[in-house]
Amino acid sequence: MTETVGFGIVGAGLIAPFHLNAIRDSRGGDVIGIFDISRERAAQVAAKFGVRAFASLEEMLGDKRVQVVCVATPNHLHRDPVVQAARAGRHVLTEKPPAMSLAETDEMIEACTRAGVRFGCFVQCRVRKAVQAMKSAVESGRFGKLLHADAYMKWYRPQEYYTSDGWRSQRGSGSGVTVAQGFHYIDLLQYLAGEALNVEAGMTNIGHPGIALEDDVVARLRFRSGAEGVVQLSTALWPGTDVRIEINGANGTAVMVGETMHTWRFRDERPEDEEIRMLGNASQATGAGGAADIGYRDHMVVIQDMVDAIASGREVVIPVRSVRPTLEIVLALYQSAKQRKPVTLPITDDPTVWD
Ligand SMILES: NC(=O)c1ccc[n+]([C@@H]2O[C@H](COP(=O)([O-])OP(=O)(O)OC[C@H]3O[C@@H](n4cnc5c(N)ncnc54)[C@H](O)[C@@H]3O)[C@@H](O)[C@H]2O)c1
Repeated sequence: MTETVGFGIVGAGLIAPFHLNAIRDSRGGDVIGIFDISRERAAQVAAKFGVRAFASLEEMLGDKRVQVVCVATPNHLHRDPVVQAARAGRHVLTEKPPAMSLAETDEMIEACTRAGVRFGCFVQCRVRKAVQAMKSAVESGRFGKLLHADAYMKWYRPQEYYTSDGWRSQRGSGSGVTVAQGFHYIDLLQYLAGEALNVEAGMTNIGHPGIALEDDVVARLRFRSGAEGVVQLSTALWPGTDVRIEINGANGTAVMVGETMHTWRFRDERPEDEEIRMLGNASQATGAGGAADIGYRDHMVVIQDMVDAIASGREVVIPVRSVRPTLEIVLALYQSAKQRKPVTLPITDDPTVWD
């Protein structure tokens, strides 16, 4: 690669250093600077990493070296920077969830398509080697008929996590466990088992008094493939244990715990299976006990993919349009919990779920 790809970051909060480190460690990526509506936050991060603190998004977009904009603002504030960056001809990587509604997601996809720029999303758990092995097995039919796709996320976040910043305790900002932390694992189910047909959810708050958010969810999914899914999500279960993703088919079972392959059994045992059983790093933190309790390696794979996609003229591997069905499932879960009945997809937005 002869030229570097310049990145600008919007939002200098908790996740921003993960983006900075990931870009720094990539081959061909270079951080140009960061912008935050809090000048102080932007200045602090910029000084720490030796990059420029932009005074506005316009200033960042005026810098021709910035080819990709990473959007790391709170969940309900992704649209404006994404659309502005796209209109300025910049490729975009947004944090998850892409937005808090299907309409805003479509608007962003449309803006990026119209501008002819790539639009990817940090649902970085997809790039884990164990997940990729499961995806290949699904695609090659090794599981046979898919029967179950389940996610168990029994995590812990202390009360202070929710009171530390205004948006972290507001429903419409996307701070409930379903759309915040759970998004990654519902995304894995959607990625592996396909689109959902029907969902049913119960949502409660069992561990964070005075916070008007769900911190505990039990849900049932029915996929179009015919598979069933059980989803348990919580941030109330101290000290928090690694996520478990289970895929069962008529001919095989795979279970990932954290990022490691816990179970990998197929009726047609193959020579490569023994190696697949060793995938993952058991000591790598994956977020069970704290928001910053993660590595940046998975983010780096997403960044590297963008750099390589630009260099070779191809699409990114996680375009936002592939994440839209995840958002639809998540929004359907909220609608189901509110209406206290199963909800059939496709759905339209119902902003009253955030009331
Ligand atoms: N992929 C992951 O594993 C992961 C992990 C944590 C957070 N996230 C996501 O990253 C995003 C940010 O989360 P966070 O925990 O860093 O939040 P945060 O509150 O720590 O940081 C957000 C920052 O955005 C700034 N901001 C708000 N509006 C802005 C605007 N219009 N322009 C510029 N800056 C603005 C805030 O001042 C703040 O500094 C969220 O979408 C969240 O879901 C993803």
